[in-house]
Amino acid sequence: MKKITIAIDGYSSCGKSTIAKALAKELKYIYVDSGAMYRAVTLYFLENDIPIIDLQRAADEGVLNHYTDKINVSFENNPATGVSEVCLNGRNVEKKIRTMKISENVSTVSTVKEIRMKLVKIQQEFGKNKGVVMDGRDIGTVVFPDAELKLFMTADVDERAHRRFSELSHKGIEASLEEIKINIRQRDYDDTHRIESPLIKADDAVLLDNTNLNEQQSLEFVLDIIRKKFGN
Ligand code: DC
Repeated sequence: MKKITIAIDGYSSCGKSTIAKALAKELKYIYVDSGAMYRAVTLYFLENDIPIIDLQRAADEGVLNHYTDKINVSFENNPATGVSEVCLNGRNVEKKIRTMKISENVSTVSTVKEIRMKLVKIQQEFGKNKGVVMDGRDIGTVVFPDAELKLFMTADVDERAHRRFSELSHKGIEASLEEIKINIRQRDYDDTHRIESPLIKADDAVLLDNTNLNEQQSLEFVLDIIRKKFGN
């Protein structure tokens, strides 16, 4: 089968990255977690005591690049898992970006147009040879509007909070179920209401509500579409 681009968008914590990783493994494609890139940029501002609240003003004054020029986001392969992990200025920060502190600040960072433009450019570069699965909020609408396969994922908010809770517990990251639920609701609101590249379903995206599906069933749903549409 000729290589295609797979764009996966949807709400926070509804299993986008799980399915994206599984698809990439199955199809031998590159996997890119675009949310990890916004999280890594957020980590940079927090670690360097740059107030997130001032970013938009810096952008309006034309000086945001004083900060963003110092930020390099890349990925490296984890040989143990075979999955790519995000690096900030050459340092693997995959674990550091999953904390609640980052989750609470990343939506604000991702509203800033200049930051989005910088990251979208890198994301498009990753996809230029196709054979890529990328997940995020604007992949099928902005990053790869011509992607051959677009998915839009959603799931019930309680189910998403439980999944996130067990994911963080497994990673040894502390957070209560209630604060996770509040954060998910807030990010759903922020991501769908921002002016710049809001989360919306592309007209040609396939809707996948996986509230009552396990990982394998979700994967089968997508592989079935790929087989029918692209004959793989
Ligand atoms: O996928 P995630 O939850 O790790 O993403 C973190 C945040 O980054 C999310 O709340 C919104 C932002 N984001 C975005 O604006 N555009 C993307 N393509 C990916 C993520």
